[in-house]
Amino acid sequence: MCGIVGYIGEKDSKEILLKGLERLEYRGYDSAGIAVRNSEGITVFKEKGRIADLRGAVSGDVTGNTGIGHTRWATHGKPSKMNAHPHQNTSDRFTIVHNGVIENYHHLQRDYLADVAMESDTDTEIIVQLIGKFVEEGQTTQEAFSKALQLMKGSYAIALLDAEEAQTIFVAKNKSPLLVGLGEGFNVVASDAMAMLQVTDQFVELMDKEIVIVRKDSVDILTLAGEKVERAPFTAEIDMSDIDKGTYPHYMLKEIDEQPAVMRKIIQAYQGENEKLTIKPEILDALQTADRLYIIAAGTSFHAGLIGKEYLEKMAGIPVEVHVASEFGYNMPLLSERPMFIFISQSGETADSRQVLVRIKELGFPSLTITNVSGSTLSREADYTLLLHAGPEIAVASTKAYTAQLAVLAILSAVSAEARGRELGFDLVQEMGIVANAIQAQVDMKEEIEQLAHDYLSTTRNCFFIGRLMDYFVGLEGALKLKEISYIQAEGFAGGELKHGTIALIEEGTPVIALATQESVNLNIRGNVKEVAARGANTMIISMKGLNEDGDSHVLPPVHELLTPLVSVIPLQLISYYAALHRDCDVDKPRNLAKSVTVE
Ligand code: F6R
Repeated sequence: MCGIVGYIGEKDSKEILLKGLERLEYRGYDSAGIAVRNSEGITVFKEKGRIADLRGAVSGDVTGNTGIGHTRWATHGKPSKMNAHPHQNTSDRFTIVHNGVIENYHHLQRDYLADVAMESDTDTEIIVQLIGKFVEEGQTTQEAFSKALQLMKGSYAIALLDAEEAQTIFVAKNKSPLLVGLGEGFNVVASDAMAMLQVTDQFVELMDKEIVIVRKDSVDILTLAGEKVERAPFTAEIDMSDIDKGTYPHYMLKEIDEQPAVMRKIIQAYQGENEKLTIKPEILDALQTADRLYIIAAGTSFHAGLIGKEYLEKMAGIPVEVHVASEFGYNMPLLSERPMFIFISQSGETADSRQVLVRIKELGFPSLTITNVSGSTLSREADYTLLLHAGPEIAVASTKAYTAQLAVLAILSAVSAEARGRELGFDLVQEMGIVANAIQAQVDMKEEIEQLAHDYLSTTRNCFFIGRLMDYFVGLEGALKLKEISYIQAEGFAGGELKHGTIALIEEGTPVIALATQESVNLNIRGNVKEVAARGANTMIISMKGLNEDGDSHVLPPVHELLTPLVSVIPLQLISYYAALHRDCDVDKPRNLAKSVTVE
């Protein structure tokens, strides 16, 4: 949610900031702004809309070799030019960009700023006004910044400019990610290394509640008490080609196409000696000790968790519960005696999941994060991490991260099964090879799948997905994908559940997409399809070869029954993509959303 950048060096900062913001647009894209400092002071440019809109508003005449920038996903105050960052205090001496939410901003305003007229509806303006006030009262900028940070409750990543201290960007973070990038004669600030790969691959990670003084040739990390902290930089191992769209019209399509390669990469990454799948012994030991696993996740990752439960229970024989992160922390169920928590999160930054992690750590329970982003908050704060190795996922709608989550959960389950002396009955490496080929076959059938999207979804306002067993969980994911990028109202249901109420919504022509990949319920789901067809539904059956019948709309190549979700989700991803495309929707940046949801 929201992305911030900063540059201090010799060059004009505008283009570096704008390019950085373009790379961070996945974090929010309802308004954006930059502030540029030169000898005449600080100039702020901001605009409602995308970075492309901001570009149009930035004047080429103003240059400055220090600057900060922001791309916003609104939390406090609607998307508008007025609420876009950067924000300034009343005297315009201080300029700030902020990612996060200040929970006690009302109290701070009441207690310290009752006489200050606010220019925006944001919590962010409170921070910059507070700093301005403390400086007016006689504090240095650093002291004022530190005092404001100590008063603030909530999450933040902040970059601050002081018009009277030209050579410095003041930086701090709490719960929101922030990095400082190092260069020769310049330094940069970014929410994500991707934003500044154009100028450096050397980054220093910042920790919560530190103040960082960034100058063009130095970076000083301090505790809030002012003590110096030494921290070595790391090299960001992201390939520029991973973050470029190349010849693809959309990141989503590129990421859908990458899935066969991602499957092979994951298998390689988890193969140890003799090409055997391995998981760190300490993770296996922790799983062995646990009497119940609790999977915590949100959105698509929650849907992956539902399938992860099937894998862990069926392969490894460990009881599992799956919970929506935003509910769990505030309504914790009765826990087993020796629980272990598994957090599934593409970004590793989801605030809803993090609040659960913080609570269960307080209770002393072990935790494992399965994430695509090494060094992310959920990875750093959990006891153990398993990486997805999916490469950066930039489209807001998650595709390759979802299948990567399933693959890593399958590997975890299979290796745990072996550690527990349970016979799997199949070779997962071999079966995953078959899955990779089957996914490839699906992405090679784009024309056929586009036709399905056209035939079933071009004019509809709603759509239902039905399935049984694991197909039900894949249907939930198919529905989420469709609604988030095409804005068609879509819901996933267990095939047998529709007749208990929802069938009332079926009208002449209502699209119902059914998955039929599970042998034991193949006849049942087909019965459910007949029930809705009898009431006028326009039914599409996606079946697995071997279970298919004449008239099925699309037949998937056969794979091991447990691994069918990895393949059956691909046509659903493509159907959503094409449905959104046919409706002229912004596929990669759907309305109201952001990729990394760092607010609760
Ligand atoms: C949907 C989607 C979201 C995320 C959810 C959790 O396509 O991407 O539903 O899955 O916001 O995000 P992560 O996985 O980063 O914790």
